[in-house]
Amino acid sequence: MRVFVTGASGWIGSAVVPELIGAGHEVTGLARSDASAAALAAAGAQVQRGTLDDLDTLRKAAAASDGVIHLAFKHDIAFSGDFQGAADADRRAVETFGEALAGSDRPFLIASGTLGIAPGRVATEQDGHGPAAVAWGPGPETRRETAELVLSFASRGVRSSVVRLPPTVHGDGDNGFMATLVGIARDKGVSGYIGDGSNRWPAVHRLDAAHLFRLALEQAPAGSVLHAIADEGVPIRAIAEVIGRHLDLPVVAISPEDAGEHFTWLAGFLATDSPASSTLTRELLGWQPTHPGLIDDLEKGHYFHTPSA
Ligand SMILES: NC(=O)c1ccc[n+]([C@@H]2O[C@H](COP(=O)([O-])OP(=O)(O)OC[C@H]3O[C@@H](n4cnc5c(N)ncnc54)[C@H](OP(=O)(O)O)[C@@H]3O)[C@@H](O)[C@H]2O)c1
Repeated sequence: MRVFVTGASGWIGSAVVPELIGAGHEVTGLARSDASAAALAAAGAQVQRGTLDDLDTLRKAAAASDGVIHLAFKHDIAFSGDFQGAADADRRAVETFGEALAGSDRPFLIASGTLGIAPGRVATEQDGHGPAAVAWGPGPETRRETAELVLSFASRGVRSSVVRLPPTVHGDGDNGFMATLVGIARDKGVSGYIGDGSNRWPAVHRLDAAHLFRLALEQAPAGSVLHAIADEGVPIRAIAEVIGRHLDLPVVAISPEDAGEHFTWLAGFLATDSPASSTLTRELLGWQPTHPGLIDDLEKGHYFHTPSA
């Protein structure tokens, strides 16, 4: 297939691109900078210059493809106070792809998340529809509605799917939540968890996630919700213990009242008990994670090699 990938230069996209090319697909990646364009070319992809706001570019690239994987998201503005703006831009891009692919029966995949869709119990692919169970605020609510819109494209002749990712998509080079947690531990001189730390996060290695995106592109029926979940739920305390051991720091409980000061923007995410399963996804696509789980990946030590990690 000729696959158009947005966010192809990102953490997950840069694993998805070689996964697709390795399986014989041709990839065209959206690049908004020279650096991203060079990275895509080096990975063997064609480059489409443009941004998420260039809707005409997105429309034409989708129309010229056999399928679209949409991974770009304006994390830069989302995590500096304008989540709604990022979610709105995402929504417009998704609407554009839906129009371009309507009636084609071609695959269209987006990335979404599992965090907070069924707090306190193991979320399945069947959960998380309708209003949000957790009030994450207006921007995240828009993202959830965008995922529902993508699923609705199935009735308009698009083989659309939503791939839900856990809060940590880990691996060597990760700059996301796990790396942030390691950085906070270094800064504070303690490796903390909130309350008794028994609340759980699901996890997946980014190479396993990339493999699922390929399987979904090739096989997922229209309207599928897929869970890229390898670890159903790792207690946050177990994560804090590995970090503390590797950094030689005490492992301490942080009270819920002090969590905001200690963990800043990560506190709300870190307090969530949000395990999730992928049983239905594995049955549907024969996906089987083969890379290290979160604790084993942390034990490998690469999160602790540089002070900035
Ligand atoms: N990583 C996780 O643990 C996780 C968990 C749940 C959901 N997700 C979702 O999965 C998707 C991929 O995440 P990721 O971790 O790979 O994100 P990432 O590393 O931040 O990559 C984001 C990608 O989007 C591109 N991008 C950002 N703004 C753009 C714009 N205005 N125009 C065009 N491209 C733009 C970036 O391009 P540049 O390279 O030029 O910056 C980059 O390729 C996102 O939707 C994310 O929210 C991720």
